[in-house]
Amino acid sequence: MKTSFLTIAALTSFCAVAAHAQSADMSSFAEDTVFGSAGYTSTDGEVLYQTLCAGCHMPGGEGAVGAGHYPALSGNPNLEYSAYPITLIVNGQAGMPAFGTFLNDEQIVALTTYLQTGLGNSFEPDATLETVANSRPVEPEDTNKAEHE
Ligand code: HEC
Repeated sequence: MKTSFLTIAALTSFCAVAAHAQSADMSSFAEDTVFGSAGYTSTDGEVLYQTLCAGCHMPGGEGAVGAGHYPALSGNPNLEYSAYPITLIVNGQAGMPAFGTFLNDEQIVALTTYLQTGLGNSFEPDATLETVANSRPVEPEDTNKAEHE
């Protein structure tokens, strides 16, 4: 039951990202990241960023304005404290897709540390596994399981 829920969530997100990529004429982004699974297995923040995020935010984090507005992550003061980028990575927001289903806590810490210390940024890295866990929505299934235990 849990697997099928996650599969449906994953497929829905894939479709949303693919449709978005198509409308923004970024088919190479879709092929490399959405339909290739390699990027999702890395635990290297830079590899994760370049595979999953650079298609919209650009390889150097400079952002882009075109079919959509993709904020710059280089020199972005919103990255000073990890809770904000972590919440966005896990849950998405507006045109920003949610990656919480595809990445584990360790990967999100690595990615956030890269945002804070790479891309020309020099913030004090403060991402922890706990912050990521706290950003994840509580699944109703987990609640049920706890009740029956
Ligand atoms: C499909 C394009 C797309 C992809 C892929 C994407 N983003 Fe975004 N991102 C956006 C958009 C659009 C916004 C602005 C969201 C809004 O308007 O609220 C955004 C916002 C953000 C912000 C907030 C910036 C701010 O100043 O508020 C962060 C941090 C961020 N993205 C990180 C990432 C990371 C890390 C990844 C890779 C895991 C990623 N994004 C992948 C489109 C994307």
